[in-house]
Formats: sequence, structure tokens, C-alpha cells
Amino acid sequence: MQTTAVNPYLDGNFAPVHEEISTDTLKVIGELPPDLSGMFVRNGPNPQQTPIGQYHWFDGDGMLHGVQISNGKATYRNRYVRTKAWQIEQQAGKAVWSGILEPPQKDNSYNFGKNPANTALVWHDGQLLATWEGGAPHAIKVPQLDTVGEYRYNGKLVYAFTAHPKVDPVTGEMMFFGYSFAPPYLKYSIVSAEGELLRTVPIELPMAVMMHDFAITENYTIFMDLPLTFSGERMRRGEPLMMFESDRPSRFGIVPRWGDNSNIRWFESPACYIFHTLNAYEEGDEVVLIACRMNSTTVLMTEDTQPDPDGNIPRLHQWRFNLKTGAVREEMLDDVPGEFPRVNEQLLGQKTRYGYIAKSAKSSMPLFDGLIKYDLSSGKSQTHELGKGRYGGEAVFAPHPSATEEDEGWLITYVHDTTEDTSELVIVNAQDMTGEPVARVLIPQRVPYGFHGTWVSREQLDACL
Ligand SMILES: [Fe+2]
Repeated sequence: MQTTAVNPYLDGNFAPVHEEISTDTLKVIGELPPDLSGMFVRNGPNPQQTPIGQYHWFDGDGMLHGVQISNGKATYRNRYVRTKAWQIEQQAGKAVWSGILEPPQKDNSYNFGKNPANTALVWHDGQLLATWEGGAPHAIKVPQLDTVGEYRYNGKLVYAFTAHPKVDPVTGEMMFFGYSFAPPYLKYSIVSAEGELLRTVPIELPMAVMMHDFAITENYTIFMDLPLTFSGERMRRGEPLMMFESDRPSRFGIVPRWGDNSNIRWFESPACYIFHTLNAYEEGDEVVLIACRMNSTTVLMTEDTQPDPDGNIPRLHQWRFNLKTGAVREEMLDDVPGEFPRVNEQLLGQKTRYGYIAKSAKSSMPLFDGLIKYDLSSGKSQTHELGKGRYGGEAVFAPHPSATEEDEGWLITYVHDTTEDTSELVIVNAQDMTGEPVARVLIPQRVPYGFHGTWVSREQLDACL
């Protein structure tokens, strides 16, 4: 039956934009800090063509929105990630691939699935990669934001690549994983600081699961085997391929960075789902993980009915895994809902004093009306409210180039004003969370809500020229 209701993910500021623009110097309210020099780039879904069937927010073609800042001035540009599927659909003038809520396509003449490259960005080995968890990353030229193409590490990457690889700021190594519907359900890889894919090892899991993120410490890698499972057998019985199984535990696998399935240690805690980790670190005999935990999730279900009134609501939690005793201690750090956790990534894998999340608005949609800074040592937090009818997303921490303190830097996010239907880049001094933003860069085109971004420093940009 045809439905006339507008899909909320194609409406308002979730709706795509189709113009790719490059601007001259933009108007700024406030003042861009002279020490803030580089480029903020954010990825997100932006369907090029009218979707086939039901559209899910995770389906849209990746579009990058970048603001380059130098000498107190800013310019903006947005570009699609020109993936192979994007090019085919552009030539066809219509969508060729359906999305994750539709049954598998039997009539698609292309023998590969669509990699929309729409989720996140990572800087490693002197280049920017646009990521999506089901396929290879795409190399992106900066500051142009042009797509170079799929990046497969000299042919060594022949499986999926998480949207959230982790770069160790000390060694420069990049850890990533890929999950699969068929065994081995999980593969774990390490790329050297120089960009060589050094090794890949399989990690055994009892079932195929959707694994969106993971974490690293100085010596360990932590995988999250959470009960959002895929089952072909279940699908053959006419039940959903993907299901949150609340009677299965959450399993956290801690493996030495250079270890493998033979020395991974598994810890169990009650069923939950975690999209994103804030950070992890080692302390005495314990490995500590901080992440946004939901009791359960229906985010990827065809029938989006959530029986659990506390399901789908992410809150910051901490787990302590004792490597000596095997004990697990799970604790909620704040009951205020929020997602998109980030730290100062110069300290990723080490104990940080501060963590930042986007505060969830009271809405059935994933809207975020503030930024919260946590002092993890005292448990205190401060909130930067974005203002009435103004919604943002993930805030990336851009460190001050000569910072002497962990929180010396800026939180950067795009904000949409629903009253004016305008978009801005909002820059908040991370040491003055309750103050006004130091700068609001007015973007002359709407920037749809999206997923993850990154800060590319001036030094990194200059090295590409
Ligand atoms: Fe993500």
C-alpha cells in the first residue's frame, strides 16, 4: 500500500540538499579565534536520488560539509562522496539500490552492494578517509573534499572496515575491525603509522552481530559483542534478519593489541546496545570503558516499535573489567540522555579527565539541543545549550595548537535553527561551556543533520599541499 506520509528522515533538516557549493569568506557572529586554523569536516547521509521504498537515515549517500578556518576567516564547501554506486545512480538518473529496511534486491543487475560512505571520517597516514561499516573507506582530498576513490591498502583490505577505526595518538597505529554475516563474524586489523596494513586476525563470535564501534587502550583492544544479532535461519522462518535479543548477554572482548582469538578475554554484563564509545584506558588491573549505553534498540528494525520505555535512550556509562579477577562493574555516569561521545583525541586510549557528548532533545527524532562536558574525575558536568529550536549533533574537539591543558581547545558542530531554517557552524570554548559560542559561522546553505566529523589541523592540511 502506498503511504502518503512524509518520511521524517526526508523532511525538515533531515532532508537532503542537492547543490554542491564553495563559498567566499563567510559572515561570522563573534570572532574566530586566531589560533584556530584548519578544517572541520562532517559526514552524513544525503540521498542523491528519490529512494526506492522505505528510506532509513543510514541509507543516504555520504555528503561532506567542510569549513576551512584560517586567520580569523572561514569558507565552506560541501561535496558528495562520489562512490561507485553514487556514479551509477547519477548516470541512471534514479536510485538503483534500495535501503536497509527493504528486502534484499533480487532484480539489481549490479553484483555488489552499495557503499554510501556516509558515516564518519578519520585522518590517518596523511589522508582523510570517509567511512561506512559495510565496505572499504574512501580517500578524500583536502581541502577540496574531492573523492579519490575506495582505499584498500594495496589490495589487502578485502572485507568490511568499521566506520570508527581508532588511531593511537602515541604510536600512530590505526586499529580497525570488520564484521560479517558469515563466519568469521569478526576480523581485527592493524595499520602501521605509515599506512601499511600489517595484520588481520579472525575473532570468534557465537553469532553475527551489528558492531558499530569499539575502543582501544595503550595495550588492549576492546570489542563489543552485543545482542543485536543477524540470523539467516531466523529470516528463513519469516522472522526478522536483525533482532535485539534481550535474553542474550552483552559480551566485551579484551585482547592485547597484537593478540588474537587465542588470548582474548570475554566479560559479560546485562543485554544492552552501544553505538559509540567515548574512550577506554587501563588503570591498575582494570580496563575501563566509557560509552553511551541503551537498554535495547529498535533503531534498525523494520517495525520501529520499542516495547521498553527506557529503550533507545542512550546514557553515558562506565564499565570496569578486572583482568585479574574477571569481575565486571557497570555504572551509569549520568541519567541525562546523550550520544556522539568524543574526547580530545590526542589522548585516545589514555585516561582523560574530560569527555563530551551531544545532549538528546525531548523528541522522537534524534535531535540534540546541547553539548555536555563531563569532568570524569569529579563526575560533574556543564552544559552548553544551543538555544530554543536550535539543534546540533556531534561536537568535535579541536585542540589549541599550543595547549597545555587537556580541555584547551574548541568544540565544533553544525547547528540548525528550525525557526529561521538556517545553518551555522558553532564554535564553543571548551573551557567556557556555559558562555556564548566564541564564533558562529553562518553557512549560506542548509546543512542537514548528519553523523560524525573530524578536525583536520593546519599542519595536516599543509602536508597535503
Ligand atoms: Fe557512528
